This record gives sequence, structure tokens and C-alpha cells, in this order.
Amino acid sequence: MIRICILILAFILTGCSSKKPELTFMIGGTANEFSFWEKTIADFTEKTGISVELLRSATQTEQRKQQILIALRGKQPDPDIVVMDIAWIGQMARSGWLKDLFQYQIDTSAFFSNIITLADIYNSGLIGVPLYVDAGILYYRTDLLAKYGYDGPPDTWDALVSMAKDIQEKERVQNPDFWGFVWQGAQYEGLVCTALEFFVSAGGGFFDSKGNPRINSRANTAALGFMRDCIHTYGISPPNTYTDMKEEEVRLVFHNSNALFERNWPYAAKLHDTPEAPVNGKYAFGVLPHFKGHLSASALGGWHAGISAYSDRTEDAAEFIKFITSRKVQQELLTELGHNPGRKDIYSGAGAKTERLASLKDIFSSAVPRPTVPYYSQVSQVLQKYLNAGLANSMEPSRALSEAQKEIERIKQDYEN
Ligand code: GLC
Repeated sequence: MIRICILILAFILTGCSSKKPELTFMIGGTANEFSFWEKTIADFTEKTGISVELLRSATQTEQRKQQILIALRGKQPDPDIVVMDIAWIGQMARSGWLKDLFQYQIDTSAFFSNIITLADIYNSGLIGVPLYVDAGILYYRTDLLAKYGYDGPPDTWDALVSMAKDIQEKERVQNPDFWGFVWQGAQYEGLVCTALEFFVSAGGGFFDSKGNPRINSRANTAALGFMRDCIHTYGISPPNTYTDMKEEEVRLVFHNSNALFERNWPYAAKLHDTPEAPVNGKYAFGVLPHFKGHLSASALGGWHAGISAYSDRTEDAAEFIKFITSRKVQQELLTELGHNPGRKDIYSGAGAKTERLASLKDIFSSAVPRPTVPYYSQVSQVLQKYLNAGLANSMEPSRALSEAQKEIERIKQDYEN
């Protein structure tokens, strides 16, 4: 009898601790990204014998975060591997939701060390590895600039407005849907990135060097006024900029040959290059413009892979992370998806030299991060609300920014007390 009880107990215990059959990897993105990951997973399984299930999530950053949070708050063993925005990886680490990757001998020496320090080290642990780095860039129609006698893209925001007004007016004769400049202005994380670029390229920013909020500065007010004017005064950006325009909405306008300038992340290039894209062969990209007397600024974005604290297959998960951050897969990410790798050694490799995106390495190295304060999610919510109100013209820029300043000061105080 005692032996039977022991056997039953052993069965229950092993049954409880048995692992699920597949490793699970959650990532969001566009259709071409999912095809890429399916192929990469097949390569990994062939090499290691470990099967992986791809859990598809949304394209937009906030939705991706929500999907991951549901699993983590519920202490679910799936997904084992999560891919996190640089904007919220800190929040995940503070909540204790990520494994320390140092214990799995993940070597980070080949990666951009400034990005690792900024985003992936938490309490001396390694909570993520950069899968790819993002920075805002300006896409422009080379054919239209040449057609209307311009030598190249604009250096300053004023020059962008004058080219956009001129060419928009002329193009609208055949194409009433044509816009001068499309960019992300909807109330979401992407707006915070766009505003950071306008603000810093006017001499402003969000926080000062001592970590105090500096939202309601003259530079920021002028820059927010300029963003609003692109929509309401110059009429070069569509009225739905502040209601609808996120990455994909913006990309499609340019993709369909309906815009002269587009602010977007590098991923858009691969999609504009597809044989069926109307803009294929008719565009180029480069640094964003700046206000006179200041320097251009790109917001630092990007996505990092980590292991959930509730994963029951951490060793296999670490193998998978090593594989997707290997030189081979990082090179493929660049060549096939146009994602700029987090590994520095790719940029000096032969394959990267033929890639136009690798030419933007300097932009990536100097891109401006969003505030790295522990209460960033709350800061972002406040900024999204007031920046968007400024764009909608429902609040004067100076008032929107001073309200944002007050709320962010309060959030900072609450956090510090
Ligand atoms: C891109 C960036 C990410 C940013 C997001 C905003 O995905 O990589 O860092 O938060 O866009 O929409």
C-alpha cells in the first residue's frame, strides 16, 4: 500500500513538473515579419531538435505590451520568450517578470554597449538582449524632388514645409489624395517618439541632464506649434494625423505614392522596396530635418528579447535567444526585414555593406532615448494626452506643455516619496 502511494505521488509530481511540448515565442509585427520568424524557427528546430510555437501578437507597441502583461500577471508559462519595446522593458524588469540571462552564458560583447547599459541591465542582471535597434528617419520621393527642381531632401523643417507646399499643390492637380508630409501623431507611444525628435531638433527635450522634467520650455512650445501648423496652417499633413496616424497608416500613404515625405522607422524601407510597391525605386531615406541653429535628432527605439520569469523551459529559451541574436540571424534580420541589428559586428560585415540601412549606423549610435525613469509609462501617458491635444488644436501648445509639466512633476514626486 505504501509503495502504491509513493508511486502515485511520484506520478503526480512528475506529471505536474512535466514541461509543455513546445517552446513558445511571442512577437508582433507585419505579415513579412511573421514569415521571417516562421522560417527562422524552422532553421532553429532543424539545428537543435527543439520545436517552437510562434505566438503572433499585434503590430502596435501598446497592444503588444498588453498581450504580454496578461500572460505575466497570470503567471502563465507561455510565452517563454518575449520581445519587448525599449520603452517598457524597464517596467517588466522592475515587476520581476524577467529571468537574469547572465546565468545562461549569453555573451553580449558583440552588441552596442550603450544600448545594453541603457535598456538591458537591471540590478546588475541581464534582462534582455537587443534584437534590433530603431531610429526615426525621413523617407523622401527622389523622383518628385527632381521633377520639381530640388537638389535633395530638406535640411531644415522650414525647407521641408516649403518643398512640401510647393510639390503638394502641383501633384494635387492629378492626385487629390497627395500629401506633403506624413508622420505619427495619433495618441500612442509613437507620438512621444515623433515629438522627441521635433523637440530635440529645436534645442528642447523631455528631461534635463539632472533628470528633472523640462517639458514646458520655449523650444518645445515652438516645436509643438510647428507640428500643429503642419496640419492646421501649412496643410501639408492630413487632418487625421492626430486621430489615426501610427506607423502602418503613415507607411501606406507614402507606399501608395500619396506623400512626398514620410517619418518612419527603418522597417518601412523593405516594404517600399517590394516589386508591387508603387514607390519602389522612387524614394530614398536619410536623417530627419532640424530647426535652424540646431541638430537633427532621431528617437531611439528597438526591441529586446527576454525570458519570462514563469517559463518552464528556460534552458531551451536561452538557446533560442542565442540563435536569434547570432551573427547569422541578425544578418538575415537586416537583409530580409530591414531591421538594424543590435550587434555591432554586422555593420562591418560584407553583407551589411551592400545594405543601404547599414549606412545609417551613425544615426543609430547617436539616437536620443526616451526618459529612462522608472515611472516612464506614466510619463508617456501624460505626454501622449497633452501632445495630442496640442495637435488637435484643442489646447494651445504652451498650455498643453505646462499641464504636462505639472502632471509629470507630480508623478515624479509621488514616485520619490
Ligand atoms: C517602434 C520602436 C519602438 C517605439 C514604437 C512606437 O516599434 O522600435 O521603440 O516605442 O515604434 O510606436
